[in-house]
Amino acid sequence: MNFKEIVELLKNESLEEELALLADEVRKANVGNIVRLRALIEFSNICRQDCLYCGLRKSNSNITRYKLTKNEIMSCISRAVKQGYKTVVLQSGEGTCDIDEMTEIIKFAKQLGVYVTLSLGQRTYDEYATYRMAGADRYLLRIETTDEYVHERLRPYTKMQNRMECIQHLKSLGYEVGTGIMIGLPGQTIESISRDVLYFKESKADMLGIGPFISNVQTPLKDFPNGDIHLTRRVISVCRILMPKINIPATTAVETLLPNGRDLFLQSGCNVIMPNFTPENVRSSYSLYPNKKALYKSRNEINNDLERIGRVVD
Ligand code: 5AD
Ligand code: SF4
Repeated sequence: MNFKEIVELLKNESLEEELALLADEVRKANVGNIVRLRALIEFSNICRQDCLYCGLRKSNSNITRYKLTKNEIMSCISRAVKQGYKTVVLQSGEGTCDIDEMTEIIKFAKQLGVYVTLSLGQRTYDEYATYRMAGADRYLLRIETTDEYVHERLRPYTKMQNRMECIQHLKSLGYEVGTGIMIGLPGQTIESISRDVLYFKESKADMLGIGPFISNVQTPLKDFPNGDIHLTRRVISVCRILMPKINIPATTAVETLLPNGRDLFLQSGCNVIMPNFTPENVRSSYSLYPNKKALYKSRNEINNDLERIGRVVD
């Protein structure tokens, strides 16, 4: 598919079901009926960035900031491992990180025999290298949009080029890299989303986190509408068809805007879900956007849900 063809597919609302069916076949043929589970631990909502769309932005004084202690993070990891999880995702706002502490946590998780995914924002090459040496396997850093004008208006004081360099650094250090975008950001066009899709391919991403933008009243984008869930679905289906073996989670933002969206998206190209392991007492403070529908089900409940749509846990 070239740029023009991607644009045409994304613009054509009447093709959504057909596209999803094809993506579902491509998914089945390339990654099978297995759904990969990742235990998500949102260990801090402290952030030095001020992204206009996000509730964790530093200018938002309406949320209570938290950071779990090393022991608390380790006990979340242990809980996930005990339930049979093979990957833990350590995610936070872009706060200042105690590198030694992070290194210890990564080593702890590796000793328990699980894959470690980090999602800590833009950091120096050396910091990424230190975590890789400690055993971290994967890193998530969504590009958010490759439209430079939109990117730099919505992410003040940062340069899109730097974020792209971070993604290259992570790749060159041997991380499996997840990137992605939001759909429906103010100023974003179908053309720019199509360029994002080509960027995913060029950057050799291993994973794609794609979800609709959800308007948050505590941010400057409060008056903008939510992203289009149907367009989000078409983007995901196109990505699956273009990148048959990539990992694509059915994201929390999808479930938030559409009841049972997770199941629908698992049948439209997605093959990953990320149950939430953030401790209950801080969960509601990791408020990127309102009414976040995170997945808190037990392994049994998840198994049953997946069985209903003909899928199995990895
Ligand atoms: N709506 C949807 N997704 C959001 N994110 C941040 N704010 C919002 C929002 N208002 C996404 C970003 C970020 C990820 C962790 O959450 O894409 O990379
Ligand atoms: Fe911070 Fe990430 Fe939210 Fe931007 S999107 S304000 S970097 S947590």
